[in-house]
Amino acid sequence: MSGSDIFPLGPVDQVPDGQVRRFEVGGRAVAVIRIGDDFYALGDTCSHADYSLSEGYLWPEEGKLECPRHGSRFSLETGEPDSLPATRPVPTYRVELRDGELFLVLDSGDPGGGEATAATTANNNNNTTTTTDDTTAEGQQR
Ligand code: FES
Repeated sequence: MSGSDIFPLGPVDQVPDGQVRRFEVGGRAVAVIRIGDDFYALGDTCSHADYSLSEGYLWPEEGKLECPRHGSRFSLETGEPDSLPATRPVPTYRVELRDGELFLVLDSGDPGGGEATAATTANNNNNTTTTTDDTTAEGQQR
């Protein structure tokens, strides 16, 4: 029970370019974002209050997702907010594209849920995108 758990999200076209979609994965809500061929995933609940980030506004050029309630903008790569009132990051997760299907990868150190999975609570600020089929994760850590 170490390493990663992989959850299928469905066909890649469920998340059109420039859009955000909410998924329930392993007992947690996740916002999956697509910018071109790059995919990102953030915890869907704003770190300031209980609002869904997937209902917010995407800033693709800046790589940010804005909370619909008070406007804090969260980095797609680190989950860190760039403005008040949010002061804490939201979790980030890896997304992989394989044969036209999206998968969310929860590493053993990823936060949230985990009752039925290997996920444990911690803060792991990495995010990965893949742009071609059958490729392995390609890190984009900062
Ligand atoms: S609920 Fe998101 S910034 Fe306040």
